[in-house]
Amino acid sequence: MTNPDTWFEDGDFPRRIYDFQAKTAKEIVWRGKKLVNLSSNNYLGLADQQALVQAFLREEGSRYAFGSTSSRLLCGTLPVYERLESWLAEHFQKEASLVFNSGWHANTGIISSLAEKSDIIFADRLVHASMIDGIKLSGAKFYRFHHRDMENLSKLLRQHRSSCRRAFVLTESIFSMDGDAADLAALVRLKDEYDAFLIVDEAHAFGLFGPNGLGLAEQYRLMAQTDLLIGTFSKAIGSLGGFAVCSATVRRWLVNRARPLIFSTSLPPIAIAWTLYVLENLIPSLAVRNELLSQASWLREHLLKKHLSVSGVSQIVPVIPGSVPQTLQLSERLYETGFCTLPIRPPTVPPNQSRIRLSLTTAITRRDLERLLEVMDAMFP
Ligand SMILES: Cc1ncc(COP(=O)(O)O)c(C=O)c1O
Repeated sequence: MTNPDTWFEDGDFPRRIYDFQAKTAKEIVWRGKKLVNLSSNNYLGLADQQALVQAFLREEGSRYAFGSTSSRLLCGTLPVYERLESWLAEHFQKEASLVFNSGWHANTGIISSLAEKSDIIFADRLVHASMIDGIKLSGAKFYRFHHRDMENLSKLLRQHRSSCRRAFVLTESIFSMDGDAADLAALVRLKDEYDAFLIVDEAHAFGLFGPNGLGLAEQYRLMAQTDLLIGTFSKAIGSLGGFAVCSATVRRWLVNRARPLIFSTSLPPIAIAWTLYVLENLIPSLAVRNELLSQASWLREHLLKKHLSVSGVSQIVPVIPGSVPQTLQLSERLYETGFCTLPIRPPTVPPNQSRIRLSLTTAITRRDLERLLEVMDAMFP
């Protein structure tokens, strides 16, 4: 049984890493064929705008190293990290900020270090795997509330809150696989009523929502009422890294307890500098970001007219055939007609919720979407 070849049956592990030859926000080249990229988190196209990257390298790049060679706790930090954390704290109007190596490191490190065995966590059923892993590592008592169902959360808080000293409520703001939005106002009301600590993961909203692109909490003016906001630079910002904005006390706690921060070499200074460069100079205007969201609404509206199961209110537009074979067939057909839309299956989504996750970026044009709808028309007349 120690031979790995005996560990799984054929078909048990259908996931694979696709061998693209090239990838931008607009286009993927796969098996020699050009495809419109409808699977990207590069929402603002910032990751591959060569003119911007070249300008950054010319103006700033030569000052920064490509390796940091230790955790910040072991061998100190550098001004560029502190400048990024100051930028974040100042713009989110929080006392402090802390940068992690990725959104994954942030979620696992923050949740597992803040919550302890004697605490209780209430999390939306659809929060990201990194939040779930953080919860498991914490050892805290754990309840999942039905997706975006505030009555269900309220009931669970009523039943279980008093059994534990501290309570945490966890949600994403824009959900990664459904593209819908959490009811942040209701979450804030409930966390106040039950004396809980609210953590919101803005991974898919940071860079896009709100007057300054800070996320959904900014859009709803709820940044001050949210105890801790998590974001990632790996999606709309086109860089790498995760972060928390929070109180100075919570930051001090994390610096002392968050194991992914303490025991992993920090990001290269050049990656931190690129993130700061993007944040200081490149988040597009509200008009450009709104244009992307209205493009997504337009697509959603037209897909709904075909009686397809479609959800969301954001740049993420999932089309949900439900079964795995139907989803694979749809994805394959779209591939044949020039679109890259990778299938999303369990366990990433619940059983019978398989889908293609259309994610729009500023590089995708109305003409691309019209062509997509023409293909869908032929498939779903
Ligand atoms: C909601 C959410 N949180 C966190 C992460 C992890 O972020 P990162 O890719 O920066 O590790 C992701 C990534 O897919 C995500 O969708």
